[in-house]
Amino acid sequence: MKHRQFALAFAFLCFGSATQAQDAQAAAKSSESDKPLYTVVDGYKVDADTLQGFRTWRAAACDRCHGANQEGMVGPSLIERLKVLSKEEFVTVVRDGRLEKGMQSFGNDPRVMDNIDKLYAYLKGRSDGAITRARVTAIE
Ligand code: HEC
Repeated sequence: MKHRQFALAFAFLCFGSATQAQDAQAAAKSSESDKPLYTVVDGYKVDADTLQGFRTWRAAACDRCHGANQEGMVGPSLIERLKVLSKEEFVTVVRDGRLEKGMQSFGNDPRVMDNIDKLYAYLKGRSDGAITRARVTAIE
């Protein structure tokens, strides 16, 4: 995992945007399926699903507690935490919350739960350092 991130960072430094996109795609490939978890070009242009994940983040106002750049406020940095949480752990905490610790539950919010894979893809891309800006747009 760590090596892959270094390789990706290295690729960003060395190659043009065409190879960058390919490398990000390769690095993001999830283990369960052949579809990449996210696709990103130039650090901020993303595929439609990942864009929907960003919109879900905004609609649910996760930024109120985790910060506009996911770097943490009253809630922890999701950039850091998604490096260690599994996807299952992520889904569980978003669904059930940790009410006594100030993390709200989104299990009854279809806006979030119907888009949970996309939200995860967006946040994972941020955490991996592949999506370099919080505010993303569509790949033209
Ligand atoms: C009202 C404030 C608040 C909002 C809104 C909020 N969170 Fe949280 N979140 C927290 C706090 C506080 C914690 C830390 C809980 C703890 O200490 O265990 C947390 C924890 C988490 C964790 C677990 C981190 C870890 O280290 O285990 C994840 C993942 C997370 N939030 C994602 C989200 C997402 C995604 C959204 C929007 C859908 C969201 N949060 C909205 C306050 C919030």
